[in-house]
Amino acid sequence: MAESILDAFKKDHTVKERDFSKKVKVGIIGTGWIAEAHVKAYKKCPDVEIVALADLIPGKAEAFCDRYSVGDNIAFFPSHKELIDSGMCDAVSVCTYNATHAECTIYALNHGVSVLLEKPMCVTLDEAVEICKADKASNAVLSIGFQPRFDENMKMLKRIVQSGELGRIYYIQTGGGRRRGIPTPFGTSFIEKETAGIGALGDIGCYSLDMVLNSIGYPKPLTVSGYKSDFFGKSPDFPHHDKFGVDDFAAGFIRLEGDIILDFRIAWAMNLDTPGDTIIMGTKASVRVPSTECWNGSIGGPLVIYKEIAGEQVETIVPEKENEADCFDIKIRSFIDAVKEGGAAPVPSSEILYNQAIIDGISRSAELGREIEIVIPEI
Ligand SMILES: NC(=O)c1ccc[n+]([C@@H]2O[C@H](COP(=O)([O-])OP(=O)(O)OC[C@H]3O[C@@H](n4cnc5c(N)ncnc54)[C@H](O)[C@@H]3O)[C@@H](O)[C@H]2O)c1
Repeated sequence: MAESILDAFKKDHTVKERDFSKKVKVGIIGTGWIAEAHVKAYKKCPDVEIVALADLIPGKAEAFCDRYSVGDNIAFFPSHKELIDSGMCDAVSVCTYNATHAECTIYALNHGVSVLLEKPMCVTLDEAVEICKADKASNAVLSIGFQPRFDENMKMLKRIVQSGELGRIYYIQTGGGRRRGIPTPFGTSFIEKETAGIGALGDIGCYSLDMVLNSIGYPKPLTVSGYKSDFFGKSPDFPHHDKFGVDDFAAGFIRLEGDIILDFRIAWAMNLDTPGDTIIMGTKASVRVPSTECWNGSIGGPLVIYKEIAGEQVETIVPEKENEADCFDIKIRSFIDAVKEGGAAPVPSSEILYNQAIIDGISRSAELGREIEIVIPEI
């Protein structure tokens, strides 16, 4: 059907033409579960050439290459160091387990190689600070892999908050989780202390935190009272209980700059269907995000805005939006665009530093059994 002249007004005029003749050479560090999604998304970019794979486990990268038909002339390396030292890559995806996120990312940035780093950013706040310092000192791009950022409903949530319709934000509740869902489908790297470092708190908690903190503009966290437990992972009923060394439930009460309270809870397993919806309460209106699968950006139903109009208590249902492309594909594409254009990182480390500071704070406060101050050094 012929386009109406009016259709021109519906188009997003910010989309730029891409020069696909200029190729980006990409390496994948860590060839486990999530690396497959990276390869599939990179393959949709005509200007990306995957040239190298690295994994600590001998033969794993080669087998991965065969299984996913990564390419014919791929170079294989025994760790991130050799891959970066080869000088073959303009950019890398760091798809390693959490415990090696920091060392791989810092090494790449120090060698001028751009990084798409899987979430969570790392394990501790100290590591996050070192990553941010390396990012600041480097000319390369560092983006953190939060694909829900590219979900249209998540973007709408941010637009609602940023529009000022809610007034002054003073209280937020967020979190989520699964009734039974300790992630061990492809091994135990998510549940062992040495590889994961943190459990549900970092794995899916980082998404819930990013959803609300990104919406309100990432204010600085000041104090936290945290809790974490491992009742399900350590239960003899759980097949890998002998390896379980992280949290399967965590909660925190966080005070943010601007006198905002953030009430958070996250579970890999619980005797409950959901620990609740996400709510952002403001002086003029509040918004509810029905309980979400926060890790993939999906919402459990339309966003609802509650406010008073002309003395009446009214609710506005925000129509759900469809994504034009898969959020994971957009995460990869936006990273490549930033690498090529030398532009700003789609998900900058300076924001996720606060996300990691809260995760670290909940963990430390839980271990100390009291509220603590969150101290973030200058970068
Ligand atoms: N964005 C998402 O939707 C999503 C989904 C799943 C996992 N993740 C994240 O991706 C990361 C990886 O998860 P996974 O399930 O693929 O883990 P995995 O354990 O299956 O794979 C990680 C691989 O990294 C390798 N590795 C570790 N350190 C290395 C190093 N220095 N050099 C080279 N290889 C190294 C390991 O040998 C392992 O094969 C985790 O941080 C996880 O939170 C993100």
